[in-house]
Amino acid sequence: MAELISGKVVSAKVREDIKIETAAFKKEYGTAPGLAVIMVGDNPASAVYVRNKHKACLEVGMTSYEIKFDADISEDELLNKIDELNADDNVDGILVQLPLPKTIDEQKVINRISPTKDVDAFHPQNVGKIMIGNYTFLPCTPAGIVELLNYYNVEIGGKKCVVIGRSNIVGKPMAHLLMERNGTVTVCHSRTKELKEYTKDADILVVAIGKAEFLTADMVKPGAVVIDVGINRRDDGTLAGDVKFDEVEKIASKITPVPGGVGPMTITMLLKNTLTAAKQHKNS
Ligand code: GUN
Repeated sequence: MAELISGKVVSAKVREDIKIETAAFKKEYGTAPGLAVIMVGDNPASAVYVRNKHKACLEVGMTSYEIKFDADISEDELLNKIDELNADDNVDGILVQLPLPKTIDEQKVINRISPTKDVDAFHPQNVGKIMIGNYTFLPCTPAGIVELLNYYNVEIGGKKCVVIGRSNIVGKPMAHLLMERNGTVTVCHSRTKELKEYTKDADILVVAIGKAEFLTADMVKPGAVVIDVGINRRDDGTLAGDVKFDEVEKIASKITPVPGGVGPMTITMLLKNTLTAAKQHKNS
């Protein structure tokens, strides 16, 4: 039976450190690091993420600004809000919850966030800095996964890493971080033919495809480390990852559960980036 990689356990430890550093920051500067989270519309999954981000900020002593707009807000109104937050000294980090309504150009919105406040690390300037290994912020989900692998002593160097999914948020930056740590990385996606040939060969498998229980035991090499980024709802409303956990845990050496795996780490890395941003603002 695979060892459970617990995002809950690792998150609690990292958040304890962040809480201590936040208290020290407050003592030094008389103000807490501040994160502004913008949500447009009422996507139920986004609402859960935003609520969890808000709660997590308060728990470590940071200030959280929740800004909600109706789905019919114009692009200009949203861009104006971002300009306002860029200029606000109380705000160290800005996050616009994705996806946005189709009427709004997502990339245009991301581009408007000051790179120094871009705690998602989605701005082209930050993406570029990551590509050349000279970054301030790492994207939260891939960075959280690297933390998990480190904590559970999973060696990346020289290992065959397969990432399923090529999104800008997870797949692409994940591949990059694994490559930077000397993994041999293959990125598979919806158009990959003979997917199983790749997954069967992987020492480390990161699954971010967004399909409930997609990865089955026959696709996994015995002893592989399996990281499940998926959060899907089954028809009965219960949560499922992208991995068929009950099957795969029998042959993997280590595996993340859903919930309680990658999810809590993503928010923890967001807190870490917000603290980094706040320190940089005070020292610039
Ligand atoms: N939607 C799903 N994941 C994320 C994330 O990490 N950041 C933002 N801004 N939106 C998301």
